[in-house]
Amino acid sequence: MERTFVMIKPDGVQRGLATRIMGAIEGKGYKLVALKMIKLSLDMAKKHYAEHIGKPFYNSLIEFITSGPVIAMVWQGPDVIKGIRNLMGSTNPLDAQPGSLRGNYGVDISHNLVHGSDSIESAKREIEIYFQSNELIEYPRDIEKWIW
Ligand code: RTP
Ligand code: MG
Repeated sequence: MERTFVMIKPDGVQRGLATRIMGAIEGKGYKLVALKMIKLSLDMAKKHYAEHIGKPFYNSLIEFITSGPVIAMVWQGPDVIKGIRNLMGSTNPLDAQPGSLRGNYGVDISHNLVHGSDSIESAKREIEIYFQSNELIEYPRDIEKWIW
């Protein structure tokens, strides 16, 4: 079953939107398999955003993502990577569909509330930055036969 890494960014935590973001994902039907609150070290932030090194927004991105606690999660379900990217909406909240998390709650590209892996490879890479394999909890949910 596909897994993805999701992070409620410092702005989402500070604005008290954590449970709404998690609720949107949970309500869709995906299964939470790991969760922790952490304050990113500079090292972890650089690992996480390695693909953006050298871009004009890189320094402010690193500064922002280390500016306060984040909530790191792994969610599981069929096509969960695409499903959660759709729930999040476009990177720039201005372009994000109303109804999506960024469309509903964001106004600025560098304060877009939530991160979700963009491919199977990034999901695997990102999950390994934040979680040991024994922190991913496999458990049955009887309700699943009504979701997938
Ligand atoms: P994320 O990785 O955070 O889930 O966001 P994403 O895939 O939708 O967007 P990505 O291209 O990976 O960019 C990572 C984060 O960098 C900030 N950003 N600022 N032009 C800009 O100023 C700019 N472009 C990107 C955003 O906060 C984006 O989420
Ligand atoms: Mg990205």
